[in-house]
Amino acid sequence: MTTSGSNHRWPRVPGIAFGGDYNPEQWPEDIWAEDIALMGEAGVSMVTVGVFSWALLEPRQGSYDFGWLDRVMDLLAAHQIGVDLATATASPPPWFSHRYPESLPVTREGHRLWQGGRQAYCPSSTAYRTASTALAGALATRYGTHPALVMWHVNNEYGCHTSECFCDVSAVAFRRWLRERYGDLGRLNEAWGTTFWSQRYSDWEEVIPPRLTPTWGNPTQNLDWKRFCSDELRACYIAERDVLRAITPDLPITTNFMGAFKPVDYFSWAPEEDIVSDDHYILGADPANHIRLSMSADLMRSLGGGNPWILMEQSTSAVNWQPRNLAKAPGQLKRNSLQHVARGADAVCFFQWRASRRGAEKFHSGMLPHAGTDTKVWREVAALGADLKSLAEVAGSRVDCDVAIVWDWPAWWAVELDSHPSVDVRYLDLVRATYEAFWHLDVTVDFVRPDADLSAYKIVAVPSLYLVSDEGAANLTRFVEAGGHLVCNFFSGIVDPNDAVRLGGYPGAFRQLLGVRVEEFYPLLEDQTVTLADGATGRVWTELLTPAGAQVVTTYVDGPLPGSPAITRRGVGTGVAYYVTTFLDAAGTRRLLHGICDAAAVATRSNQNDVRAPIINVDGIETAGIETAGIETAGIETIRRRAEGASYLFVINHTDREVDVPAAGVELLSGTPATGSVHVAAGGVAVVREADAATAPHHTAVG
Ligand code: GAL
Repeated sequence: MTTSGSNHRWPRVPGIAFGGDYNPEQWPEDIWAEDIALMGEAGVSMVTVGVFSWALLEPRQGSYDFGWLDRVMDLLAAHQIGVDLATATASPPPWFSHRYPESLPVTREGHRLWQGGRQAYCPSSTAYRTASTALAGALATRYGTHPALVMWHVNNEYGCHTSECFCDVSAVAFRRWLRERYGDLGRLNEAWGTTFWSQRYSDWEEVIPPRLTPTWGNPTQNLDWKRFCSDELRACYIAERDVLRAITPDLPITTNFMGAFKPVDYFSWAPEEDIVSDDHYILGADPANHIRLSMSADLMRSLGGGNPWILMEQSTSAVNWQPRNLAKAPGQLKRNSLQHVARGADAVCFFQWRASRRGAEKFHSGMLPHAGTDTKVWREVAALGADLKSLAEVAGSRVDCDVAIVWDWPAWWAVELDSHPSVDVRYLDLVRATYEAFWHLDVTVDFVRPDADLSAYKIVAVPSLYLVSDEGAANLTRFVEAGGHLVCNFFSGIVDPNDAVRLGGYPGAFRQLLGVRVEEFYPLLEDQTVTLADGATGRVWTELLTPAGAQVVTTYVDGPLPGSPAITRRGVGTGVAYYVTTFLDAAGTRRLLHGICDAAAVATRSNQNDVRAPIINVDGIETAGIETAGIETAGIETIRRRAEGASYLFVINHTDREVDVPAAGVELLSGTPATGSVHVAAGGVAVVREADAATAPHHTAVG
């Protein structure tokens, strides 16, 4: 388990916190009493207040109107509902952009974006920094000791709509950031390789953001720009956080993440927070959305160093921003919520409490729908509140696992820069394919940076780590030498942190570890596949490889390189390093990782009966075909959370069949004993406090 996120502090809310964004300012005050009564009925224990209320709280610069918020805070305090108070800086009011028009963001194409939506501010704007920290300070001063206040929610989803701004103010900030990184212009010229195409800079004033260019812009400039944009948004967060911390040093502070969000390097943000929190919305049309959910939850736990985290937002049913906004099927709300808890969330919250009547999100579901309480959604919300109460003792326990997937934002940014060998190499595709294979094997994973402490893991997967530092590569090498199993995908180790190619043959930084030398890439056509001698297929990529110490596991039988090695394996120290030169199909990936799990003594789903019948996901989506090679891949997740002297087995059944899973102890949602096995209905969830925590296996076979 990684150890970053060390400032962990939790709000004073008992058990698993339950609630959502509460926007009472959108409603007449006489409705608030009903809100509070219904929150009581559902078991709501924490609400996020004020996220988009800047215009009401500060109707004119420096003049505050806290009256309505005072009444909301008092009401919530009187009913023991904790408040995660937003600093309200996510969307500046019209007066702000009217007064400071230069604060409006500018796109790469040079278009200025206006107010009228939300998040219309340039992250480098001094006016914004000054006004946002002033508001955060005013809120902290007024509510710092209020009994309802349990934590701070800085801004909202930094970068969600405006992750970069190309204006002149940003250009100045970019130059400042570059001066700090490189010290002098000579070093910048060297790092950016500006001898190419006559790009050499002779004065700092000549350096600009990567605005629209006639053809491909300088790759390192683009990469540094991504780093800068992530850092600049983080500076906005840190500025507000520091104001809050100075006034309320004991209160936890967070800002809500957005899972696998490309523009922001959350590994560099998480240590600046007391608690990691996340917003996760499933894509209704994606048949694997429950697997994406697990992946995002595992990423959040990993960002926080394994500490409990907050699911800050999800939807009770449909959202409003997908092309077709699918309502959730009965039971899906509970399954999705408890998936997050199984993977380490100690808070389950929603956007939002009461579905809006006006505005762009009026067709977004809420905990309390337009149709009121005689609804599927409300009944499921209230039932979830009760379920979470019965899981109170799970709070604080941790998920342990012995497999990690390397995840690195700069490598993601760099691998997707333009003018590369193939546009089909997309970072998340590879990460997801690797994650999905482990998911189907029922193996829980952490996500780690290349330079993380890897000593707790038996297997580390490295999906297309195009950019890696010398330290990162050395760390992964040490992991293998010390007995670890590593599996690395094509187009890894290619460049250094400045995007300069590592010479002498690919995969550069990993050539020696993997015992191979690649002289040329042979990417495939868009729909082309190749067959491997072991029956698997590959797509996207092949490459001309010569073993240099590695054994050949399998070769290509067709495609551009028949007879050439496709997968290799090399023993290093007491460990093993595998190299996969193509984007293996799902079955091939699963089979390879299953073999590695066996070799590394990582338990997998042990029932290996073929699943002949198609498996219908309970949401009505057929996921047949995930059965392959004798590996049972039915959609049943088992995850363990452990605490001192206690162990909790979560079983989440995504299929349309009931299952019995070996377990002994007490099933907490029903309060009934599990003697030998626990029965989980189709689409259902069980959570067993295991009778003997000490001997609970790391993995449970699904019968
Ligand atoms: C989030 C945002 C919320 C709400 C929600 C709708 O991105 O933080 O304010 O807009 O999406 O799904």
